[in-house]
Amino acid sequence: KEIDFQQIFDEKIENEVRIEPKDWMPDAYRKTLIRQISQHAHSEIVGMLPEANWITRAPSLNRKKILLAKVQDEAGHGLYLYCAAETLGVSRIQTLNDLHSGKAKYSSIFNYPTLTWADIGIIGWLVDGAAILNQVPLCRASYGPYARAMVRVCKEESFHQRQGYESLVVLSKGSPEQKEMLQDAMNRWWWPTLMMFGPKDEESSNSDMSMKWRIKRFSNDELRQRFVDISIPQAEYLGLTIPDPDLKWNEETGHYEFGEIDWEEFWAVVKGNGKCNKQRVDARRNAHEEGAWVRDAATAYHEKRSKRENE
Ligand code: 3HC
Repeated sequence: KEIDFQQIFDEKIENEVRIEPKDWMPDAYRKTLIRQISQHAHSEIVGMLPEANWITRAPSLNRKKILLAKVQDEAGHGLYLYCAAETLGVSRIQTLNDLHSGKAKYSSIFNYPTLTWADIGIIGWLVDGAAILNQVPLCRASYGPYARAMVRVCKEESFHQRQGYESLVVLSKGSPEQKEMLQDAMNRWWWPTLMMFGPKDEESSNSDMSMKWRIKRFSNDELRQRFVDISIPQAEYLGLTIPDPDLKWNEETGHYEFGEIDWEEFWAVVKGNGKCNKQRVDARRNAHEEGAWVRDAATAYHEKRSKRENE
């Protein structure tokens, strides 16, 4: 009797049984996971660049150490996720080539410049905060390697978010210049952070299937709304003004209503025309080229060692 692989797959998804690399899976399931996991990995690696901009400029040795640890964590998250993508049959070099050629997407948020030290705290608080909201549900994604990678990533993201917020509490209690720097960073990062969650649900081409396959557990708009509801009280504690005149609390729904996102800006950044897209992709391509000698040395060492072992 012909084994119905599709039925076995569907039952596993239905019964919350993880799909593992060696399991049969629909091509479209494999394809959307390669798409999302590789873009997620690229986001982590590109995300190191705006933050690294302040490692040599951190205001104290302690802040420098924390920022160094965070940037190293992001590198680890990226490598975790590239490995998860490889379990689906894509090679690392092909995935990297897609990024270096400008073909691959990565999170729009990392195409904005980090102009002041307050930007680093805002990234920790808002951007990593948004990433946590998006990544915690991914710990229950139906694809095993992706879900398991997220468990470790989320633990480290929580540290990133707390350290960012703590640095902003210091600025919020500081001099008028520090408070002004903080508000300026909020004004520049608030809306791009809302864009991180993706287009509106009705414009989200992948959500239906992604939710059917239990990769995506909550819609883009649901997570965006949750993010706004959580962030407003935190912003108020910092004495910040939210750069959204339409923001208002709705007692009935128990949620904040907020203004319209500039979707033209969003799609322009996604399509590569943001402030820093070219600079980010160039930096990654240069790093890859300048790092070729490390890969060559590791390969030569490996060949020499395996030759010696086989003598
Ligand atoms: N930036 C760039 N592209 C985006 C985007 C964004 N913020 N939001 C959506 N898009 C793209 C999608 O990739 C998709 O294009 P594609 O079909 O060519 O991939 C298109 O816009 C339509 O969006 P959809 O809603 O249909 O796409 P998804 O269902 O994939 O949802 C997502 C988008 C919620 C970002 C989802 O891909 C996801 O959860 N990805 C994994 C998590 C992730 O990448 N988080 C953000 C970056 S990680 C991070 O912040 C690191 C932290 O340590 C700082």
